[in-house]
Formats: sequence, structure tokens, C-alpha cells
Amino acid sequence: MALRDRWPSRTMFVYAAIGSAVGLGNIWRYPYLAEKFGGGAFLIPYLIALFVAGIPLLILEFGLGQKMQKGAVDSFAAVKKRLSGLGWWALFTAFIVISYYVVVMAWSLVYMLVSFGVQWSDDPKTYFFSNVLQLSDSINSIGSIVPAVFIALIINWAWIYFCIRKGVKSVSKVIVWTVPLPIILMIVLLIRAVTLDGAGVGIAAYLTPNFSALLDAEVWRAAFAQIFFSLSLAFGIMIAYASFNKKDSDVAKNAFIVGIADTIIAILAGFVVFATLGFMATQQNVPLDDVVASGPGLAFIAFPKALSLMPFAAFFSILFFLTLLTLAIDSAFSLVEAIDTTVLDKTKMKRKHIALVVCVLGFLAGIIYTTNAGLYMLDVVDHFVTGVSLIVIGILECIAIGWIFGADKMRAYVNKVSDFKIGPWWDITIKYITPIALAVILAIQLKAEFVENYSGYPDWAILVGWLFVLVPLVIAFLIPQRKVKAA
Ligand code: PHE
Repeated sequence: MALRDRWPSRTMFVYAAIGSAVGLGNIWRYPYLAEKFGGGAFLIPYLIALFVAGIPLLILEFGLGQKMQKGAVDSFAAVKKRLSGLGWWALFTAFIVISYYVVVMAWSLVYMLVSFGVQWSDDPKTYFFSNVLQLSDSINSIGSIVPAVFIALIINWAWIYFCIRKGVKSVSKVIVWTVPLPIILMIVLLIRAVTLDGAGVGIAAYLTPNFSALLDAEVWRAAFAQIFFSLSLAFGIMIAYASFNKKDSDVAKNAFIVGIADTIIAILAGFVVFATLGFMATQQNVPLDDVVASGPGLAFIAFPKALSLMPFAAFFSILFFLTLLTLAIDSAFSLVEAIDTTVLDKTKMKRKHIALVVCVLGFLAGIIYTTNAGLYMLDVVDHFVTGVSLIVIGILECIAIGWIFGADKMRAYVNKVSDFKIGPWWDITIKYITPIALAVILAIQLKAEFVENYSGYPDWAILVGWLFVLVPLVIAFLIPQRKVKAA
């Protein structure tokens, strides 16, 4: 059997895992959630989610991939044959996410290119919806493909292909740049942002705690869902990445480093975003709430608008969109790498051919999001996949390792190789606390789904959302199972 590829060093593995974790989720999702759900008080559920689910599951995924020396499917199959379906489900889910994630990157690329003229400055909202997305008036009118987004999508996929065609070897060369660069860019933006007039207003809104938010179930749901998305958990990514470590590499400390680094970057991104929005509110003499927007609106409307008001607007705009793109690229190729790793485990195909096939399929699957109804489709699919699939996969991972494999056995392995030892708290967390917390989160989510259609979308769209959860699940467990021996 050919020798497994290896990360050149421990640092490279940690870089790659941080690269996967830190992405679009940190820069627009986290700051927005924090503002919406209790300001500074949101840190409490977020940090609880980090320590109750985030870091324990990172330890689980790192430990599993490294122990079994396999991608997600075979790692779970080595625990028990029937669990290979869980690995497949995680990977299918990863594929769905990547297909729209790269579309958001395509918007960023379009924006970066038009940054030279700060073209949106007159009316950023119309610019985003009408010029860039050419959004139709409802999800019912799909319309046609939007050429600029489509071309940007091709460019991004080509870029991703070149990053991963040689697996960890080429990934290692790329991440030396794409992990530190956006962090440096973000620090530049941070310095710029906090020195703007009115920055304090925004920062105050971001940090002022509203403790009553902690009584709202929705806040807790949002915090847990965000931790999964942000740490790239339940996609099989961290399992695949860890499988390229030597069997005796550290697990526990790496998991803490990755979890904490991702959180620090999210919190810093919040400062950039809110200081800038505070500046804009002050310039326009309106309350901050008027300028805060959610999801794509934050990165593609509110923030560009603020940028256009700054001195050297074009320069800082290019910097911002370059930051977004370089942050996102390593998350994107970590997903492709997770899928490639499994195919590589299972077939004799050449790595670069697998990479090409996955990239082409990912591109084809993404075309639907480049249509006039693309944003709506993306919103629906994202809602169901991150809200339901990820949480259920997380629960199943806890059962697979905590109960079937044995939390104590996994902890013994982790402690044998790690710089510092994790205590029995981990067993209790993985067996009881994490799955119970996730089950509660899932119940809150399902209840909301059945009360009313998400965001008022028509029934057919909600059905499509559910199909994106259920079809991969069914296929995953229908794929023939093969017994795999642990390495
Ligand atoms: N973790 C990435 C982020 O925060 C997103 C991501 C999710 C990447 C899932 C890969 C898989 O943006």
C-alpha cells in the first residue's frame, strides 16, 4: 500500500485546520449574530457552545482521523461497519455547502474587481441586489444565469483546483500564504476601523451586554449552530485533515489552539465590522440599528457602503474583499480535500483526477445559485443544512465515538499522544452533555420549522430544503458497507 501523505510539520496541520475554520462565517455571521443576540452577552452562549460542543468534537474528529489514518467514511467504518453511512452523510453535506460557499466567494471576487471604482457608492443596496446578483422578486422566478457571477464561479473553482490538486502537498504550499495573509489584512482593517470617527458607537453596540437575551432559546440555538459552521465540524473535514498526521501527533492541544484561534478571529472581526458601522452611522447621523444588516447584507451592502465613505475607499475596499476571499479559500478547499481523501481511500484513481472531478461537480452544483433566484436558493439550502444536518451529524458522532467506540478508549489514545492530558470530563461531555445539548437545539429548530415556513418561503422551497437534508442521508446509508480495519 502506498504511504499516506503527511503534513510537512505540525504547524502546517494547525494552519490548515485554522484555515478551514476561519472563513466567511467569522467575518459576517459572527459579528451579526453577536449584535442581534445580546451584544457582549452573546459571548456567554458562544463560549459555552465552544467548550461544550466545539472543542470536545474537535478532539473527537482529530483523534478519530489520526487514530484510524483514514478519511471520514473509513474512519467511522473502522469503528463499526454500518457507521460508514455517517461518514458519507457528512461528506455529502460538505459537498452541498461547498457548492454554495464558492458562490459567495464569487460575489466577493466580483466586488473586489469593481472595488477599483468603488462602483456601488451611490446606492450599495441596489448595486448588490440589482447589479451584482440581479435578484428576481421571488424564489418562484428562477430566471437565468447571471454571467458575471457565473464567470467568477469558474475562476474560483479553477483556483481551488490548483490549490488541492496534489493534496496536502499543494495545500501546505498555499496555506503558508492564505492563512496569515487575511489575518494581517484584518489587523490593518482593524486599525483603520477603530481609529474612525464614531467607531466607539459601533463597538459599544457590539459589546454592551444584554443579559436577558440569555433567556431566549433562539440565542442558544444560534450560538451552537454558529460553532459547528465556524469550526467546520460534522463535515468530515477535520477527520480527513487529521488523517494526514502521524499516528503519534498531538491531538488535544491542537484542538484547543484551533478552537480558540477561530474564536479570537471572530471576535476581532466583530470589532472591524462594528467600528466601521459606527463610523457610518455617525457620518449619516442615523442610529446604528439602521445600518446593521444580516448575512450577505452585512458584507455586501452595509460594509461596502461604509468603505465608500472612507478616505482611500478603493484601497480599503480591495483590501476587504481580498480578506474575504483569502479567508474563504482555505475553508473551500478543506471541503474538497475531505471528499478527495475518502475517494482516495476507496479507489485507485489518481489524486489530481479525483480533485478535478470533485471541482467540476462542485461547480455544476453551484450553477443554480448563480441564477436570478440564487440568493433565495442559497438561503433555503443553508438554513436546512446548517440548521438540521450538521446538528444531527454531531449527535451521531457523539454516539458513534462516545458509546459505540467508547469515549474512554478514544481518550486513552488522545492522552497517549497529546502534550497535555484531557480528564474524564471529556468522556462525560461526549457521552452526555454534547448530544443532549444538541438534541435540545435540534428540538428548538424543528419546532420553529413546523410553526411557520422559514422566512416565508413557499412550500415547494421548504420541501427542497428538506430534500437537501434527507436525500443525502438516505443515499449515505444505502451505499454498500465494507468492513474496514483500523490502521
Ligand atoms: N468554517 C468556515 C467559516 O467559518 C465555513 C465552512 C463551513 C467551511 C463548513 C467548510 C465547511 O466560514
